[in-house]
Amino acid sequence: MSEVSIGLFYGSTTCYTEMAAEKIKAQLERLSPHINIPMFDIKDTPLSNIANYDIVLLGISTWDFGELQEDWESHWSDIGAIDFTGKHAAIFGLGDQLGYADWSKTQWYASRCHRT
Ligand SMILES: Cc1cc2nc3c(=O)[nH]c(=O)nc-3n(C[C@H](O)[C@H](O)[C@H](O)COP(=O)(O)O)c2cc1C
Repeated sequence: MSEVSIGLFYGSTTCYTEMAAEKIKAQLERLSPHINIPMFDIKDTPLSNIANYDIVLLGISTWDFGELQEDWESHWSDIGAIDFTGKHAAIFGLGDQLGYADWSKTQWYASRCHRT
């Protein structure tokens, strides 16, 4: 049986999503030592690279009253061209529930996820 491939894509303005991504990667690789999860900062990596993975983990923080993190904002229109058929995708997001309680992005992300 062939191994599933997992890729982690994140955007991070002040490095907190990047730190969370490193923890998720380390934990998953600890649980499954045969799996290697490459991490991609979408500032430097085209989102089309998502096509190379069976499972994608997407790290997205929230900024400026419910808006996307700046790198996701810049590349968001590229998402529509990606074929997610047969893929599994998980989103993890960082935000400030105290300072921005009315501006959580979770429901916004969920409303834009396509069922595959
Ligand atoms: C200027 C500013 C605006 C922010 N706006 C929001 C917001 O609208 N909603 C939210 O939940 N968190 C907001 N946050 C909190 C960030 O999402 C949080 O600090 C997050 O950890 C940043 O992750 P990053 O450094 O990986 O981009 C904001 C933070 C700052 C400094």
